[in-house]
Amino acid sequence: MYQDKKVVFSGVQPSGVLTIGNYLGAIRNFADFSEEYHCYYCVVDEHAITVRQVPADLRRRTYETLALYIACGLDPEKNTLYVQSHVSAHAELGWILDCYTMFGELSRMTQFKDKSAKNADNINAGLFTYPALMAADILLYQTDLVPVGADQKQHLELTRDVAARFNQVYGDTFVVPDPYIPKTSAKIMSLADPTKKMSKSDENENAVVRILDPRDAIIRKFKRAVTDSGSEIKYAEGKDGIMNLMSIYSAFTGKTMDEIEREFDGKGYGDFKMAVGETCADALAPVQAEFARLMNDKAYLEDVMIKGAEAAARDAARTMSKVRRKIGFTDPRRK
Ligand code: TYM
Repeated sequence: MYQDKKVVFSGVQPSGVLTIGNYLGAIRNFADFSEEYHCYYCVVDEHAITVRQVPADLRRRTYETLALYIACGLDPEKNTLYVQSHVSAHAELGWILDCYTMFGELSRMTQFKDKSAKNADNINAGLFTYPALMAADILLYQTDLVPVGADQKQHLELTRDVAARFNQVYGDTFVVPDPYIPKTSAKIMSLADPTKKMSKSDENENAVVRILDPRDAIIRKFKRAVTDSGSEIKYAEGKDGIMNLMSIYSAFTGKTMDEIEREFDGKGYGDFKMAVGETCADALAPVQAEFARLMNDKAYLEDVMIKGAEAAARDAARTMSKVRRKIGFTDPRRK
């Protein structure tokens, strides 16, 4: 779509207070693309309603997620920052892509299986077709690269399949996007059960470190993190808890696993957990300060939302007009 630059798109659901998993796996990396790519970062509120939300909470978290984008270094002048429901083309292309996504494909999605197990009283059609809306988000902007955590890999593969299928039927319409998954922090695990992903909707507060947690809470949660009964700081099979803490420490400090093993040689789990907690709290402090400042400036956040949505809608319209024409929708106003 853009002759000059390739396109990056990613999104975060405003469905809870974001965790260091969201931060290290996704948001922290977003700003790296701002110079070289044309970047869209969206607050995906339409995805969030696949699980029941309290309206006032959804509204507040939408502002908070946008403020966190900016607090994590995304400059609204260099990135298109906006809210999904402000650009109607997402829902529109979402419906169209529903008709090119197979029941069997959607049935295989592990996120659908997990979420329907957790929300057994609300297995709605939106939860099932969620990945087709996600494909629409991405394909609307002719995206080349999608920075996400490892849990979104399967949805990205489906997006690629849907794009390729559409292109095969109608000729080149969509760019087929690639995922960008970070090496060390693609899957941050729960501190209470290191075999499970850290998730913003976890009910056990000790399992998750949130970007906005105060310093003492961060340190306390790391101190209580579940580890094995050994004592060595080693990146080795069977030590899921320690491996997770090492990944977090590595992501914050840039140190390799070898360097971390050497740094904590002869020291115990207590010392290591304390170091991880302090490093994490230090790294998040500036993000938290900037977040607090932005949340006090609602007019600014609204200005960003409005300008972002206008720019996104303009770009999305180009893909939509191509899609409509290809599938045979009439357009009597077009000359
Ligand atoms: P969401 O809101 O669950 O998570 C936002 C981003 O955080 C990553 N992430 C993690 N990374 C590492 N470790 C973890 N424990 C962890 N938990 C979450 C996610 O992989 C994601 O990158 N379906 C998406 C939102 C979405 C989207 C899109 C993303 C909608 N449309 C289009 C990319 C492109 C989701 O639920 O993310």
